[in-house]
Amino acid sequence: MSWGLQNRLSKIIKPDTGRTVMLAVDHGYFLGPTNSLENPRKTIEPILNDADSLMLTRGVLRTSVDNNTSTPIVLRVSGGTSIVGPSLENEVITTSMEEAVRLNASAIALSVFIGSKHERQTLDSLSELVNQGERYGMPVLAVTAVGKELEKRDARYLALCCRIAAELGAHFVKTYYCDEFEKVVEGCPVPVVIAGGPKLDNELDALKLAYNAVQRGAVGVDMGRNIWQSKYSEAMIKAVRAIVHENASPEQAHELFIALRDDPKKVTLKG
Ligand code: 5RP
Repeated sequence: MSWGLQNRLSKIIKPDTGRTVMLAVDHGYFLGPTNSLENPRKTIEPILNDADSLMLTRGVLRTSVDNNTSTPIVLRVSGGTSIVGPSLENEVITTSMEEAVRLNASAIALSVFIGSKHERQTLDSLSELVNQGERYGMPVLAVTAVGKELEKRDARYLALCCRIAAELGAHFVKTYYCDEFEKVVEGCPVPVVIAGGPKLDNELDALKLAYNAVQRGAVGVDMGRNIWQSKYSEAMIKAVRAIVHENASPEQAHELFIALRDDPKKVTLKG
């Protein structure tokens, strides 16, 4: 890994804990103004400083994030399809490497759809971006998304996806949590982060998800809806941080969540 690439990656995966809390707000690229992300600036601003990185498209970055932020940017560079179109998986590269450098991104992200009819095309895009990433010192995050046609998110399938992405040179991989998640991590030679998925019924369940993932080897989360669709997003992201960076149990993190919800000035797990 070149110095620049390693340096960029170390802005995201924190060297002191080897872990990361990435905040994903890229959902509008195929979902439009989804619930709680109708006004991205309003959603992002209160929780931006607690994120180790912010994952989003260039459109939302330019319009909704102040350019003096110190939070590293993970730029989504794939898209071009929608939830109402004929094939969500038919994604292409939407944003150039030059644009990513111009926007001072710390990494770029794209989705790959393994097992769909667009497998080849999306893996080609991954390979091309890795070639460019090596040239420019830009880490590439492969998002192993499961499209509409593929509902099977078991360890065998997700391990296959993560391993293929790593073999093609992805520098880190994002996937879903599943039973026997340790098998996904064991088979993947690069760091793995998990998506949170749709909003769970309560915050404790989302904290358990984050806890189980890091206990089974994930370096952290790239979480969206379970943070910003919570009525108490500021308390929630701090509770997720306690799990990822301080090895808090879900119950301890939930206590912190309740304390911060009731008194937002409280700042630490112990406080
Ligand atoms: C979609 C994405 C999203 O960023 C990802 O799903 C994370 O968000 P959430 O925690 O809401 O699932 O990459 O392809």
